[in-house]
Amino acid sequence: MDFFYFLAAFLIIRRLNKSLKFSILYPKWRTMLSTATWMIIVGYFAAFALEDIYQDLVGSAILFGLVYYGAKEQDFAAQRSYLVNNIPLAIAGVINFLFGLLFAGFYDKYEQYFGWGTLIAFAWIFGKWATSKKQEEELRISTERRAELESLVQERTIELQKQKDELQETLQELKTTQAQLIQSEKMASLGELTAGIAHEIQNPLNFVNNFSEVTAELIEEMEEELNKGDKEEAIAIAADIKQNLEKIMHHGKRADGIVKGMLQHSRASSNIKEPTDINKLADEYLRLAYHGLRAKDKSFNAELITHFTEGLPQANLVPQDVGRVLLNLFNNAFYAVKEKQKSADTEFKPAVEVTTLAKGKSLEIIVKDNGTGIPDDIKEKILQPFFTTKPTGEGTGLGLSLSYDIVVKAHSGKIDVKSKPGEGSEFKISLPI
Ligand SMILES: Nc1ncnc2c1ncn2[C@@H]1O[C@H](COP(=O)(O)OP(=O)(O)OP(=O)(O)O)[C@@H](O)[C@H]1O
Ligand SMILES: [Mg+2]
Repeated sequence: MDFFYFLAAFLIIRRLNKSLKFSILYPKWRTMLSTATWMIIVGYFAAFALEDIYQDLVGSAILFGLVYYGAKEQDFAAQRSYLVNNIPLAIAGVINFLFGLLFAGFYDKYEQYFGWGTLIAFAWIFGKWATSKKQEEELRISTERRAELESLVQERTIELQKQKDELQETLQELKTTQAQLIQSEKMASLGELTAGIAHEIQNPLNFVNNFSEVTAELIEEMEEELNKGDKEEAIAIAADIKQNLEKIMHHGKRADGIVKGMLQHSRASSNIKEPTDINKLADEYLRLAYHGLRAKDKSFNAELITHFTEGLPQANLVPQDVGRVLLNLFNNAFYAVKEKQKSADTEFKPAVEVTTLAKGKSLEIIVKDNGTGIPDDIKEKILQPFFTTKPTGEGTGLGLSLSYDIVVKAHSGKIDVKSKPGEGSEFKISLPI
């Protein structure tokens, strides 16, 4: 069996030789390695002179020595694991020797098995080596694959960056569009307001026109009386004229006030908070919303119910902005009752109810309608910008989202929604005093 130790030692030298062949270290080791080869060959034949078990001892000692020096040497670092693979064979040699020496009978009886052991230890070297070669190959493949992946990741990153840039551009475009939509939404609500205001102005203007006409006639009459010399009658007519002119002035002022209000609304929001009477504000916008709607659809009628609590403290707010909120709530409420009327029986009476009250440190404005109500599945979405269930042209879906911005963000208030589908909705705005 001693043959295997020498063979293993011989193969180690060959391997070291091969591993250095193309390296700058080769000249340094060449002589040493070829000397070692010859020494092993000579040693092998010389060992024939010894007893079997001593052959084992010499063989494994040579092997141990080679492994020890080889593994220690930095220049053979790459072969270290191959060298270590030889240790079991060297140990097998020592075991063979010890058993042969100490338990000769036993050793002789089972020599065959000792032989197998040595053979297995020899085979182990190459078995291990083959698997480690496989691992090496796997390692090489995985390194290559990693490099491939890295370049792929780099490509993807560039692609993603490009997509991100494109998205950012789109976002910018969307923002611009949104700003434009908000502007057009403002214009639309202004249009509705204008219709309401026109209706309001119509009334005082009618008075002014009628009284002017009557007054012109009275002046003619007065002239006639003066020509006739009836001074008393002329004075009486003059008193009537005076009264009429006062009425004209009164209605003229009313129209003036309404126009001023309209101008105030059309102006960009001043963003200046001022103490405001919410009863007056709510009443004003309720009427404007209603008349605005009626101007478009003469057949529409709804009951307006108001519960304005008297003597409420003034709230510090931007009147035009909160006015816009109320206008949207009223418009939504009127729209909902109008929709319900389409499908309800003739018994149905559309009603929109406004309540104001003080609660703790807040003022509350509650707008309630008996319209279509809001289905549960869309309740969460109604505050989102552009969410609308109205047909194109009738709603942009910005009303409540703007209302939310105005009430919650700008006035630190709250909007609560309660609704029973089919029965109606209630929007409550709370504003800090
Ligand atoms: N009082 C209400 N009754 C029933 N549904 C309502 C009521 N108020 C709001 N909604 C629902 O919420 C949606 C969003 O309302 P929002 O005021 O934000 O937009 P819009 O009224 O559709 O459009 P816009 O106000 O921009 O003209 C409405 O389309 C409607 O479906
Ligand atoms: Mg709306």
